[in-house]
Amino acid sequence: VSKNTLVVQYNNIEDLQKTIQKNKDIAGVIVEPILANMGLILPEKNFLSDLRKITKENNIPLIFDEVVTGFRVAPGGAQQHFGIKPDLTTMAKALSNGFTISAVGGKKEIMDLLSPGGKVYQASTFAGNPISVSAAIASIKTINKLKNKLYSKLERFNLLFSTALDDMATDMGIPHQINFTASMFQIFFTNKPVTNYETSKNANAKKFQKMFKTLLKKGVFIAPSQFEVVFLSDAHTENDLNKTLDAYHLALKSVKN
Ligand SMILES: Cc1ncc(COP(=O)(O)O)c(C=O)c1O
Repeated sequence: VSKNTLVVQYNNIEDLQKTIQKNKDIAGVIVEPILANMGLILPEKNFLSDLRKITKENNIPLIFDEVVTGFRVAPGGAQQHFGIKPDLTTMAKALSNGFTISAVGGKKEIMDLLSPGGKVYQASTFAGNPISVSAAIASIKTINKLKNKLYSKLERFNLLFSTALDDMATDMGIPHQINFTASMFQIFFTNKPVTNYETSKNANAKKFQKMFKTLLKKGVFIAPSQFEVVFLSDAHTENDLNKTLDAYHLALKSVKN
């Protein structure tokens, strides 16, 4: 599969245009609408709308991987948040609050191609697993009940948290970037804005490791890599956030020393 995959830089619409011009038989463009697998990287203004426009003009299906962003950014995922409709969407564990599940959905004319109705074979041992599906139904019902308060609360908490963290690192004179949106954030130790894989890769991973280890010692467990993302959850209280900020304060001190 990787032999037949072309990689295009995120937030670089010219790169996509050139790739489409050079390759006439592109089967689809797949992208996380907000990147959460090279740290957190936000789409620049017009990137997603240009992506939609160009794929449509060239008759190339656009696939949003909403495994991370689905239900986290909005009940309808990043596509609802940005008002951009892909042709296909993939989702996974966020759909079922952590239970094993994955799902694909999209335009009828593409979905009709899949078996058993269509010619494209697909099968899975766990497709339709009753426990996962029950968890997904319960999660969707809960989100629908809470949605009017849930997303604004998470955004408010994240704004407070990420702004406080940003101020803390600035006061300590530590070169850094904080990318945040909805219930997700990440800090990078670099003085350059992080907008794609190159800029994420060039952030100081050793400093991140130092920060991670101090956080862990203080009882705060985040993913041990700057290429991951930190999530806020509805279960977090203001007290949790304050404790976490105290731990980040010590962790940033360890980065500085
Ligand atoms: C954006 C994204 N896509 C796909 C996957 C793979 O999901 P799964 O492990 O359910 O195949 C992940 C895993 O975390 C992910 O973050």
